Amino acid sequence: MSRHITIFDTTLRDGEQSPGGSMNHEEKLEMAHALAALGVDVIEAGFPIASPGDFESVRTIAKQVRGVQICGLARCNEKDIDRAWEALKGAERPRIHVFLATSAIHREFKLRMDKDEIIRRAVEGVKRARNVCDNIEFSPEDAARTESDFLCQVVEAVIDAGATTVNIPDTVGYATPTHMGRVIKNLVDRVPNIAKAVISVHCHDDLGMAVANSLAAVENGAGQIECTINGIGERAGNCSLEEVVMALRTRHDYYQASTNIETRRLVPTSRLLTSLTGLVVQRNKAIIGRNAFAHESGIHQDGMLKEPTTYEIMRPEDVGFTKTDLVLGKHSGRAAIADRARTLGYELSTEELNDVFDAFKKLADKKKEVYDADLIAIIEQMQGAEQSLWELVGYEVKAASGETPSAKVTLSRDGQQLTETYFGGDGPLDAIFNAIDRITGVSATVRDFQVRSVTRGKDAQGESTIEAEAAGRLYRGHGVSTDTVEASTLAYVNIMNRIASGAGHEIEAPMDSV
Ligand code: KIV
Ligand code: ZN
Repeated sequence: MSRHITIFDTTLRDGEQSPGGSMNHEEKLEMAHALAALGVDVIEAGFPIASPGDFESVRTIAKQVRGVQICGLARCNEKDIDRAWEALKGAERPRIHVFLATSAIHREFKLRMDKDEIIRRAVEGVKRARNVCDNIEFSPEDAARTESDFLCQVVEAVIDAGATTVNIPDTVGYATPTHMGRVIKNLVDRVPNIAKAVISVHCHDDLGMAVANSLAAVENGAGQIECTINGIGERAGNCSLEEVVMALRTRHDYYQASTNIETRRLVPTSRLLTSLTGLVVQRNKAIIGRNAFAHESGIHQDGMLKEPTTYEIMRPEDVGFTKTDLVLGKHSGRAAIADRARTLGYELSTEELNDVFDAFKKLADKKKEVYDADLIAIIEQMQGAEQSLWELVGYEVKAASGETPSAKVTLSRDGQQLTETYFGGDGPLDAIFNAIDRITGVSATVRDFQVRSVTRGKDAQGESTIEAEAAGRLYRGHGVSTDTVEASTLAYVNIMNRIASGAGHEIEAPMDSV
């Protein structure tokens, strides 16, 4: 008989914690709605005590995202737990996630607490949370490196105190599948009250084994997997949701376990996260990478044409790839664009369709063939666009090797055009960015800058993503154009608009462990 595995998504908490993974309030809310549509059982929406911004995001998600459990993280202390509950109490089904490290290394060097104190604090924390909420998860941080007897003691004590889920993290990605399987089996065999709680697993990918370790935990009795879209998370990331879900589904014969995930939404959800964070997925990434279903070798192609199952263990459409990369062109009409967008997972309002159609026509004038990826870039660019204070009117740039670059940029604001020229900088883009700073009166420091091609070919669109810091806040901007200089200029103007609308997020300071 098939058993249900709870999918606990922590993209908005552990994932958001990863370098480059941060999102602002609106972006987190959009992602939370997408996760609910994907069918995850639990959304870990954030760490409410970490910052006022985190608190507000958890509170809004708790109030607005229905049909799914909403969870907030708290250290094992009164302030954290009370703050988490304050943020979560509007949720349809709230969950408080309390954690405290248990391994010898963390006890000795980080917490400076002995085993008795750890148990006492863990029990107190769970009881306090349980006073306000009946859905409590406890995580013994660094469980995979915790002595097995002590881990059994902690788990038994927190279940007695009222924990309904005990999550076993491999915080530093140290475990191997056999090791992780044993950790779970040890709890199943030796903790007397274990049947009163769901065992969960939370694996990091430092050795590239997070998915394998999570599956080993399921084989040994875990009923919940914590994971993230595209596997983002601290350092090398967390268990990738799409991989672990498709492993359970494709090898149902072996695992005899299923999830509530609507797998056709995997690719659109992955793309949404990429467009919100700028964290691009590698081409050969399992399930959702651009090459995941591409067959290059002649022998493979021959086999595929004769019978797809010769070389394909999953169908691309089952994870949300469209069967064909239909080519659109100058003569394609509004209905064709709406239909293509729907197939790609985007339901556009009439107003949105009008904007997308205009942008599509402009692109089709520059580019003979418009592919799915081009259309996705247009839609995501449009959906991510804020109310624009600044619009790019035009630019002129001069650069030659060995010569000082210069740029003249014109922006408009409330219908008024403003032009500035800048001589100097590290290159033509730096000159453009400096000219824009002069016009807007804002000085931003670029922290990260990426340009990637949306499709193949010389006339492909380039998507530029820039991360810049201004007044202690981080802003991310995107721009798409067949001209990469224009794409980058648009991305920087997008940052100026985000600064004007306060859409960035604060740069967080390190926190205490308890
Ligand atoms: O990796 C970890 O230990 C965590 C806990 C807070 C669950 O993220
Ligand atoms: Zn983690």
